[in-house]
Amino acid sequence: MNPDSLQLPEQMSSNAAEYDALYNFIYYFSLFFTVAITAFTLYFVVKYRRRPGVKSTPPGHNLIMELTWTILPLFFIVGLFHYGFKLFVKNAVAYEGAMEIRVRGQKWLWTFEYPNGYSETDELRLPVGRPVKLIFSSEDVLHAFFVPGARLKKDVVPGMYSTFSFIPTKTGDLQVFCAEYCGGAEGDIAAPEKGAPKELNVAGLHKGHWGMLGVIHVVPADDFDKWVKNPPPPTCDGQPCTPEQWGEKLYTKQACNSCHTIDGRPMTGPTWKGIFGRNELLSDGTQVTIDENYIRESILKPQSKIVKGFENGNMPPYTIPDKQLDALIAYMKTLK
Ligand code: CUA
Repeated sequence: MNPDSLQLPEQMSSNAAEYDALYNFIYYFSLFFTVAITAFTLYFVVKYRRRPGVKSTPPGHNLIMELTWTILPLFFIVGLFHYGFKLFVKNAVAYEGAMEIRVRGQKWLWTFEYPNGYSETDELRLPVGRPVKLIFSSEDVLHAFFVPGARLKKDVVPGMYSTFSFIPTKTGDLQVFCAEYCGGAEGDIAAPEKGAPKELNVAGLHKGHWGMLGVIHVVPADDFDKWVKNPPPPTCDGQPCTPEQWGEKLYTKQACNSCHTIDGRPMTGPTWKGIFGRNELLSDGTQVTIDENYIRESILKPQSKIVKGFENGNMPPYTIPDKQLDALIAYMKTLK
């Protein structure tokens, strides 16, 4: 994708060519008539301007002309609707054998869940050349899943599922945006700083609609099969990590940082500073000491024991592998 171009990015999905054909047709057709109508209007304004001594003779009613300019465009508009609706239906109906991916929108991140239950935040891997069906749902408010490179834009509506089916046709990265304004954290809007490390930018950007970004990596089918069975742990600057270092990466990668700080400030959820071993009062009045089991339960089933004062946090359940849970807990222990 050329960032300087005002045109749509490179076609990377099975539906792109047809969408572009329709889009270009409407675009150039509208352009032609805009220019033609404006030109004729200007021409007539000059030609029939008021002149001294010339009396105006309005032509009055012309039935044939009025019928023509009503019926011709009507046929044309119905034709366009038909063409557009056909494309809409085509991508709403799943391809045979399509892999189903759950896409969950929430303020302000995307969670992708693979058929085997593994899930990732803000990053989705898809095998090139294989059909996929995305099933969208929202944890909170209205979002819209927008992938220009795949010519895909779908509303993500609370309380209902929407779907979109396509085949990625090229390997490479596709940028994901949220295309429906879904709010922002007041006073917490951190614009990305030029030249800041990528992790920092993501952390800052996560706090609002504008930061609800993601990426789809379209990879060779073999790589995908290997990866989805056994997602490798991320390396820290190319080196193998300790669990603590990996946990620190996951804090950003799984977007824990959009609700939990590590500096003591409460956000949507309790801060992680000093979390391990802390005594917390729960919303039902009981007291707990935060240990491995409490943290594990709070990630997998967040609504079971809520810390008093955070009843409105509404954290969704996460599906993450045990190794990642262990790494997150190891990281929490370092946050004294
Ligand atoms: Cu989600 Cu805007």
